[in-house]
Amino acid sequence: MSSTSLPGGTWTLGDLTVTRFGYGAMQLAGPGVMGPPADPDGALAVLREAVALGVTHIDTSDAYGPHVTNELIRAALHPYPQALHIVTKVGATRDPQGGWPPARQPAQLRRAVHENLTNLGLDVLDLVNLRLGDAQGPRPGSLAEAFGTLADLRQEGLIRHLGVSNATAEQVVEAQQIAPVVCVQNLYNLAYRQDDALIDALAEQGVAYVPFFPLGGFSPLQSAALSAVAARLDATPMSVALAWLLHRSPNILLIPGTSSVAHLRENVVGAGLALSDEDLAELDKIGR
Ligand SMILES: NC(=O)c1ccc[n+]([C@@H]2O[C@H](COP(=O)([O-])OP(=O)(O)OC[C@H]3O[C@@H](n4cnc5c(N)ncnc54)[C@H](OP(=O)(O)O)[C@@H]3O)[C@@H](O)[C@H]2O)c1
Repeated sequence: MSSTSLPGGTWTLGDLTVTRFGYGAMQLAGPGVMGPPADPDGALAVLREAVALGVTHIDTSDAYGPHVTNELIRAALHPYPQALHIVTKVGATRDPQGGWPPARQPAQLRRAVHENLTNLGLDVLDLVNLRLGDAQGPRPGSLAEAFGTLADLRQEGLIRHLGVSNATAEQVVEAQQIAPVVCVQNLYNLAYRQDDALIDALAEQGVAYVPFFPLGGFSPLQSAALSAVAARLDATPMSVALAWLLHRSPNILLIPGTSSVAHLRENVVGAGLALSDEDLAELDKIGR
């Protein structure tokens, strides 16, 4: 399958063309996103299959493992195909209990960018998201110092494009006053639609919105209405949830996570599911 035949076509992040169907690599680390996977060869196979299917957008972070996911990406895919764009994020680290404490001091961000470059084997990072808030979600407050540090690193030539993650709408606006923002990566799916207004506003500006937990993350999406539509279409709820996101807005990019080649293939096919107006109206009610 070539890039252009992946469901949803392509989107441009700054000057980088990516497939709207991307891949989220977090699930490749061990349990709790800590340590190595039980099946390292299987993890490498998932990454290689994503690229073979035409995916040109992989989402990662050095916080996954920590470092494990980036090292797997490098082992599987380096030297990278020219069309492939790896999006990473900084602003959180890991503690020994598997927590995700913030790491947004300028020195921590600088170190994180350099570690991502080393672990991914790159001279320049295509896109770096500043992760804000905490594990409970976005938190209000200025991002000026942290985002300004990433803007400086961009000026220094270590980063091509910037985004924000786990951000409030106000923080997106504040970031845009400091440097161009090409994407916002927040929690959003069929059942959790806090960002509906933000998605529409970003679509008007041509800024990508990249939902994390598109399939519900650690608690798979469950809804009677979703199951009913899936049964009617003879499809899985996962397929319907991904196809719905592609229909929801043209600026939505998918980064579903999986540690399974079979699930990855299912998701590529599933995201291309055609949804009728009747299906969309029924699905629209779930998260409203
Ligand atoms: N910015 C942030 O703060 C943040 C936070 C969380 C995640 N992220 C990013 O978002 C990406 C996506 O999130 P996520 O991976 O946590 O959640 P997700 O994509 O919503 O769901 C992943 C889960 O769904 C399962 N799954 C996937 N396809 C399936 C299928 N066809 N059939 C059955 N089960 C299936 C996976 O299990 P299997 O492995 O068994 O397939 C996994 O448990 C991550 O990889 C990461 O890059 C960002």
